Amino acid sequence: MSTLTDQISQRRTFAIISHPDAGKTTITEKLLLLGNLIQVAGSVKGKKADRHATSDWMSMEQERGISVTSSVMQFPYNGCTVNLLDTPGHEDFSEDTYRTLTAVDSALMVIDGAKGVEDRTIKLMNVCRLRDTPIIGFVNKLDRDIREPIELLDEVEEVLGIAAAPINWPLGMGKEFQGVYNLYTDTIHVFEQGKNFVLGDDIRIQGLASDEAKEYLGIYYDDIVEELELVRGASHEFNLDDYLAGQQSPVFFGTAMANFGVKEMLDDFVKWAPNPLDRDTAQRTVAATEEKFSGFVFKIQANMDPKHRDRIAFMRVCSGKYSKGMKMKHVRTGKDVKIADAVTFKAGERVLVEEAVSGDIIGLHNHGSIQIGDTFTQGEELKYTGIPHFAPELFRRIRLKDPLKMKALQKGLQQLSEEGSTQVFFPTRNNDIIVGAVGVLQFEVVAYRLKDEYKVEAIYEPVNVYTARWVEGSEEHLAELKRKANDNVAIDGGGHLTYLAPTRVNLALAEERYPEVDFRSTREH
Ligand code: G4P
Repeated sequence: MSTLTDQISQRRTFAIISHPDAGKTTITEKLLLLGNLIQVAGSVKGKKADRHATSDWMSMEQERGISVTSSVMQFPYNGCTVNLLDTPGHEDFSEDTYRTLTAVDSALMVIDGAKGVEDRTIKLMNVCRLRDTPIIGFVNKLDRDIREPIELLDEVEEVLGIAAAPINWPLGMGKEFQGVYNLYTDTIHVFEQGKNFVLGDDIRIQGLASDEAKEYLGIYYDDIVEELELVRGASHEFNLDDYLAGQQSPVFFGTAMANFGVKEMLDDFVKWAPNPLDRDTAQRTVAATEEKFSGFVFKIQANMDPKHRDRIAFMRVCSGKYSKGMKMKHVRTGKDVKIADAVTFKAGERVLVEEAVSGDIIGLHNHGSIQIGDTFTQGEELKYTGIPHFAPELFRRIRLKDPLKMKALQKGLQQLSEEGSTQVFFPTRNNDIIVGAVGVLQFEVVAYRLKDEYKVEAIYEPVNVYTARWVEGSEEHLAELKRKANDNVAIDGGGHLTYLAPTRVNLALAEERYPEVDFRSTREH
């Protein structure tokens, strides 16, 4: 039996950050194949099922397979236990996507080699930066013509503000793609066009200077040797400490579709990626290896399974061990609860968890008492920090079809915002109710759930809000802001003063005009 410390040191808890279509679903599938969690390709449902989903949220839930119900995928690999947390993408992109990143210890960034760094990746990267999360990069789709690799790395450095250290280097691309050369092991991994690489398939040529390498690369050999010299001279050398500090990203090249380069990346990932890190609470820093159990809730998912009408609160275990039937303290409510039915998700099915240690994710049944950001402990008064609300990027005014249902609407919105399904703002100058989201599907989910659970029919109208900022400052400065910028001031669902900016320019002007006021794009729970 390994000790708790051993178990924890083997945990690798991460999420994938990428722009839609870069290949997250494809690479997830290959990781699960490598981890033996699935046996055949095609088991992970991708965006195809998501696509027609926007029109009907419930049918989407039923139709989608692993991408929703397996919010957490756990598999053993090379002596480690890997936890891969799904980050909702495409239409189901939401604040949950951001908050999932607060529950991981590292991230894998997948970039479409033909497109480079895209918008969604930038946003997700900004979230990772809040905690200096270590990031490994994977440049995908080398079987196609991609952009110049060196240009891609420059873009990562410039746009994402993180140093890029190539671990391997592509030998050609598209139709001429011959494989990758590992700069550190001096090994060529041979790519065969049209082949889908299965488990254990890894044809290697040792030594760039070898006759075999010369023969394999043929007429390209001299150019490749020259290019590699250039790359060595011009790029950063991998440094584990810089990676762990979130300042440097080791980058791999490959093609997820052909399962080429994924294994190489995963092998190094489990070697380098951090095991569960110590985490801050408002009271003290908690070491992952402490004996006593603690964790926080980062996501609440409603009606995951139509057979069970309850909600599941996802908890990241931060210290100690959960064992079935244990008593925990729900710190915000002060109540002790006995938890015997925490679940995890295997192949789309809920299964009871017997044990979970720091780094693992467990699902708690929630009948309304658990909120995002809640801390659970074995008695100690702790409150984990760093699980913020993120400023919404999309806004709608919500109106009732039946004006007599105002109370029910307010209650529904209150609860949905506590759950993190949406955010709600009450402008001070009128009686509007504005809901905010970071992904469009959130609006639909909210309307559906208001009707289903609160019997309220609501409609949305466009509203002229570009972004929201939580404002902080002295009483005097905030009073001035309220007086002079009354048209833009609102109170959010948690009672916090907020500035609703109609345009980017307006926000910039407000920041300039009220230099003593802090305009924040995140707010702690
Ligand atoms: P996402 O989850 O990040 O949105 O991306 P996903 O994996 O669904 O991949 C998006 C598209 O890119 C898919 O094509 C997928 O097959 C393709 N793709 C992923 N990795 C590679 C790769 O290494 N090389 C090439 N050439 N394509 C890749 P699709 O046509 O939209 O869907 P499908 O018909 O293949 O399912």
